[in-house]
Amino acid sequence: MLRQALLAASRSGGVRRIVETAPYTRSVVRRFVAGETAADALAIADGLISDGLMVTIDHLGEDTVEAVQAKTITAEYERLLERIAKAGYGSRAEVSVKLTALGQLLPDGERTALENARRICAAARNARTTVTLDMEEHTTVDSTLRVLKELRQDFPDTGAVIQAYLRRAEEYCADLADEGSRVRLCKGAYNAPDSVAFTGRDAVDKSYVRCMRVLMAGRGYPMMATHDPRLIEIAGALAVLGDRRHDSFEYQMLYGIRPNEQRRLTELGGQVRVYVPYGAEWYGYLMRRLAERPANVGFFLRSLASKA
Ligand code: FDA
Repeated sequence: MLRQALLAASRSGGVRRIVETAPYTRSVVRRFVAGETAADALAIADGLISDGLMVTIDHLGEDTVEAVQAKTITAEYERLLERIAKAGYGSRAEVSVKLTALGQLLPDGERTALENARRICAAARNARTTVTLDMEEHTTVDSTLRVLKELRQDFPDTGAVIQAYLRRAEEYCADLADEGSRVRLCKGAYNAPDSVAFTGRDAVDKSYVRCMRVLMAGRGYPMMATHDPRLIEIAGALAVLGDRRHDSFEYQMLYGIRPNEQRRLTELGGQVRVYVPYGAEWYGYLMRRLAERPANVGFFLRSLASKA
């Protein structure tokens, strides 16, 4: 219930204004978001890379309503990738992109988002790195998979994301488990109806395991995005059973969540990539992080109370 309420609040302009202006919100944001600028994100990325981790950097923003905004976001990614190229991180620093930020929801949005994503993929290629297309609301999944297919014609290393809570997740994984195909598997962070998604925790976890089996047995490059200790253990066991080398898959976690575990897996020889978001449009991202964990809501309520 609380999860659904927070996810509903992530779409509410009124709640947004209260949260954004509450005095203690900043400290909650700082826990999950690298900062407002690309320089902030790169400073965090640099520290993580020095510690043997990898990063995927996300410029926060979603649900773009004007074409000019989509262009601005695309240009921001191009500049970010120029800086990644200069730093010489190669594939240790890639970028994650939301197609709704690139205009997917505008009239003729799929074409606009594809064109913008192509520019970002080209900049990533120049920086010798890759792009992963985040997966958003269930209503955008088919369109995002179509854009992915188009992009992969020219940029075969473009990463996909599959949300295990979708009833069709296992089928999507089977379709994507080809040679060289980079697929991030996550549980899913949005509100989705029972008709398209499993809603119970147990059912989502079981689906995650089924998807993981498909991806780990396939010929692609699985990216296991979870902080769940049981699922991380199962991923490791599947890698051993399938004789997968450490460099043939990776674990992924969010900035600010289980940093000790990120380092423990790295020390064991695993590849770990941290999702590092930055930018001023942190509201939707923050609300999804709060929805994932009841303990985080304590911070949230204190932040609201301090407004009164
Ligand atoms: P679960 O929520 O069960 O958490 C397991 C444990 O992890 C918790 O018990 C707690 O210890 C810790 N934890 C998890 N979330 C926490 C939080 N917010 N604060 C503090 N501790 C927390 N989703 C999506 O729909 N589309 C996408 O493109 C992506 N992309 C993505 C990339 C990466 C790298 C990650 C790690 C995750 C995503 N997600 C996502 C989000 C994902 O769908 C999911 O909502 C979160 O990862 C939380 O699910 P867990 O698998 O961690 O399990």
